[in-house]
Amino acid sequence: MDKFLITGGTPLHGTVAISGAKNSALPAMAASLLTADQITLHNVPMVRDIVTMGKLLAYMGASVSTRDFPASEYAFQAHTISDAVAPYELVKTMRASILTLGPTLARTGIARVSLPGGCAIGARPIDLHLTALEKMGAEIVTSHGYIEARTPTSGRLHGARIAFEKITVTGTENILMAAALADGETILENAAREPEVTDLVELLRKMGAKVTGDETSTLCIQGVEALHGAEHTVIPDRIEAGTFLIAGAITNGDVTVTHCEPRHLTALLNKLREAGVSVEPVGDGPGPRALRVRGVRKLLAADMTTEEYPGFATDMQAQYMALATQAEGSSSITETIFENRYLHASEMIRMGAHISIDGRTAVVRGPAELSGTTVQASDLRASAGLVLAALVASGETTIERVYHIDRGYERIVEKLSGLGANMSRVHAPAI
Ligand code: UD1
Repeated sequence: MDKFLITGGTPLHGTVAISGAKNSALPAMAASLLTADQITLHNVPMVRDIVTMGKLLAYMGASVSTRDFPASEYAFQAHTISDAVAPYELVKTMRASILTLGPTLARTGIARVSLPGGCAIGARPIDLHLTALEKMGAEIVTSHGYIEARTPTSGRLHGARIAFEKITVTGTENILMAAALADGETILENAAREPEVTDLVELLRKMGAKVTGDETSTLCIQGVEALHGAEHTVIPDRIEAGTFLIAGAITNGDVTVTHCEPRHLTALLNKLREAGVSVEPVGDGPGPRALRVRGVRKLLAADMTTEEYPGFATDMQAQYMALATQAEGSSSITETIFENRYLHASEMIRMGAHISIDGRTAVVRGPAELSGTTVQASDLRASAGLVLAALVASGETTIERVYHIDRGYERIVEKLSGLGANMSRVHAPAI
């Protein structure tokens, strides 16, 4: 298993380009199952979850092609869906495989998806996806670890009024895709408003879907009989952008993050400014935009609570915790989305951080002098938090199990090294 070696203490300087959003590209790829025509996607990040989703689509009978290497442009075409199954081997490495359920069911009338099970950051059930599909007429049975869903014997799924008990991002995306091909109107209340959901709505519209209400918590979908091919550019990854902004701030550096969408980063930018960090937009006009972050000698503690968009993203919590270890005073961090998302805290404590956890709240006292040691990455975003802590720690940190970070960060070693970080990847042979 690969490891990262990081020697901390170097302020980062320079410019880094942000890749396309993994969490936007994944539902967009799943949406290709809704039509026999070709879906072309640009700005797809070169990360492992994309490879996994590509394998899943190919397993189901879709063709997956690309013209360039390293690839950021892909064409997907599901002429037919030969095997409406998402097998355990692929689902276990990536929960987002559940995104194939809605489109496959709506297109073919049947779908079998392995139950995703638990994951490091909490139970993460999919009950809300299933209840909503049942409201649309799906008959769902769970046996032998698989969910098997069928459309009613009368034919297609039908439109329904669905109010999610809790906001769910992939749940909203799954139902959006199913409803696009359902018979009649679906009203989805308490829907997720994440930019990735809005990006999916834009793609679906290009495919001929009739959707209104994007960027609000009520989506209205008028089902159509068939969707057609489309071409779409995936939005920039706001979590990658946020991670690099914190990398600039925590090392007291001067980093310009390009190809990002500052509008999607408002909660983080407000929090960084509260912590005394200077973050300013660079240039003006439409198109890809840039943010410049400059560190300060004294970071200030600031409390933070994770929330659904437009609140502070849970996917930035670990990275923010790393920053809080360097801020003067006590920062209280409350995680409201996932029940077990502090696995990185114990590793940061081993590096010298002062963190105490009580239920969903972590109190971080800083500034702490971090020192390098060997730490384990436990999930995708926790790994990013550990990388940030290592960038400011004295001496060398070894981060093990970095396959987690490879799931969602494109060429992170090259990008951070390009900013002056002393970081390398060690390809460790499997024992
Ligand atoms: C998505 C993101 C992930 C992010 C998360 C929250 C993708 C591929 N992943 O994950 O990076 O951390 O949103 O912003 O886009 N829940 C239920 N029942 C359900 C579904 C969800 O109880 O049927 C709960 C979850 O356990 C969690 C909360 O709802 O506590 C939010 O989860 P959800 O928004 O569904 O997360 P994901 O879509 O899996």
